[in-house]
Amino acid sequence: MSTKRPRVLVLTCSTRPRALGPAVGRWLLDAVADRAEELEIDLVPVALADLDLPLLDEREHPSSGVYEQEHTRRWSAIVDAADGFIAVTPEYNYGMPAALKNALDYLGHEWAWKPIGFVSYGNTSAGTRAVQHAQQVVTTLRLVPIGATVAIRIGDAVAHGRLRPDTRRDALGVALLDELVRAAYALRPMRDRERAATVPGPLPGSYARRLTPLDAAEVTVLQRACWVEEALTNDTLDIPALHESLEQVTAWLADWRTTGLWLDGRLLGMVRIRRAEGDWQLGRLAVVPDLRGRGIGRWLLRTAEAAAGAESGRIVLHTGARSLRNIGLYESEGYRSTPDVGPTGTVRLAKTHA
Ligand SMILES: Cc1cc2nc3c(=O)[nH]c(=O)nc-3n(C[C@H](O)[C@H](O)[C@H](O)COP(=O)(O)O)c2cc1C
Repeated sequence: MSTKRPRVLVLTCSTRPRALGPAVGRWLLDAVADRAEELEIDLVPVALADLDLPLLDEREHPSSGVYEQEHTRRWSAIVDAADGFIAVTPEYNYGMPAALKNALDYLGHEWAWKPIGFVSYGNTSAGTRAVQHAQQVVTTLRLVPIGATVAIRIGDAVAHGRLRPDTRRDALGVALLDELVRAAYALRPMRDRERAATVPGPLPGSYARRLTPLDAAEVTVLQRACWVEEALTNDTLDIPALHESLEQVTAWLADWRTTGLWLDGRLLGMVRIRRAEGDWQLGRLAVVPDLRGRGIGRWLLRTAEAAAGAESGRIVLHTGARSLRNIGLYESEGYRSTPDVGPTGTVRLAKTHA
């Protein structure tokens, strides 16, 4: 859930010929299609039968992430790109089908901190024992089972190999999707923190990652909160960060390399940098008001400078002429004021990036 719409895999878990599973999966996809559009998520049907996964044949433990087999790499990429799962599963001998257990066993980190919901089907128990069995297993993988389920008694629900229309069941399917998507968003900070594209931040548990246009809402709130003090200090409302629209923020997030510092889903700070006219332009250094004085601004500044990489040149920025605290920070990091003219009421500072 970083630069794309959230993606929910609908896993059809039975693999035998003429199985009922595909019909149950089709019902679910139809029942929740409209809600998926409202929630702006992608539903991706995946039949375990199509994956051609033999019984686990990797030499290394899945937690190593070392995969020798092409089928494992393919499955890993599919699961890694997902934000949540709905398993459409039968009950076989009071448990989950072996194909589902095998597909789970193949991977490790790809499952972590993603929600999983179940649509089960069977005879008297409506597949609920398969769900209980699967729930025990999935928690080991840091998959997070949600409470909402749909349990279908075949005798009541199926006629001629298809599910009979049932608006109550449809509503349960939608409720399951709703809960799954909420859990997927809530777990996002847990997922983000473990991704390779993040770096540990200066506060325990915090992490930094590149911000994208999908972060525009948080960025807009952060900059409005942070630049109020600038407005008061410099006695002006003529500060773009104060009144940029969501669309304008979305647009510049696509152009700048912006680093965001996060803690448990909260955006604590940010900074942006880009190459322009032979210089590095740096700006929008912001830290939430309640966490000032903890070294976050300095950390962000250095992180942005590091993002400039090996390409040398001046790093230039501007800040309010009366923003003495900001100026003090920049000067202590080697920035010096330049004679260039910046926007009215600002000073321009620069340092050479080696
Ligand atoms: C190997 C096997 C074991 C089964 N065990 C159970 C069971 O424990 N409980 C149950 O309610 N139904 C059980 N059934 C009946 C299934 O619920 C029913 O056949 C269902 O259609 C299986 O799903 P599928 O057609 O998608 O494979 C079992 C079926 C099979 C093939």
